[in-house]
Amino acid sequence: MYNPAEDSFLLSEQIKLYLSKFSKPQLSSIHVLDMGSGSGIQAKTCIKSGISKKNILCSDIDSEVIKHLKSKKLITIKSNLFKNIKQKFDLIIFNPPYLPESEHDKQKDTTGGKQGDETIIKFLKQAKSHLEKKGKILLLTSSFTPMKKINQLIKKLNYKKIKLTEKNIFFEKLYVWEIIN
Ligand SMILES: C[S@@+](CC[C@H](N)C(=O)[O-])C[C@H]1O[C@@H](n2cnc3c(N)ncnc32)[C@H](O)[C@@H]1O
Repeated sequence: MYNPAEDSFLLSEQIKLYLSKFSKPQLSSIHVLDMGSGSGIQAKTCIKSGISKKNILCSDIDSEVIKHLKSKKLITIKSNLFKNIKQKFDLIIFNPPYLPESEHDKQKDTTGGKQGDETIIKFLKQAKSHLEKKGKILLLTSSFTPMKKINQLIKKLNYKKIKLTEKNIFFEKLYVWEIIN
């Protein structure tokens, strides 16, 4: 299971900031999907920020992760991206596997395919039909993630992309994007 790291914390900070703009009654009607939930850090951030636990769906491809999330009493589904997910959401959070495959890294929690953009591309295509009308995605990427195809797809699917923050971590830069449906 992925232990929360710099990327997790950067995304978590942005979730807090994003949700702080809503009033209590507004927060109570927001439905969230925590895709690739891992330790559940992002779902927990949502709960601390006022989102009702019953309105958060945690999803992951990894059976061990699913066991862990269930033990934390989070609503959980095992799914390869949206394969087993039917609902629509106001907010979808994803700290994806975003690194290109290398000799040293073939793990499914960090490696997003040969180039590093494959999982994100599939995710963005599938997410379109799981977002409410003005639904948003908060997505983390890295300077090691090739962005060309991702940016082309964002245009093609009529999403709008806004950079919320960036942070240098040694030789890598991390980014958090708000992607609007
Ligand atoms: C970088 S970790 C992020 C974990 C956690 N959300 C965080 O911010 O620390 C990526 C997570 O995505 C999951 N994952 C990888 N490929 C997936 C897929 N195709 N569908 C769903 N989850 C996936 C991994 O099992 C892992 O838990």
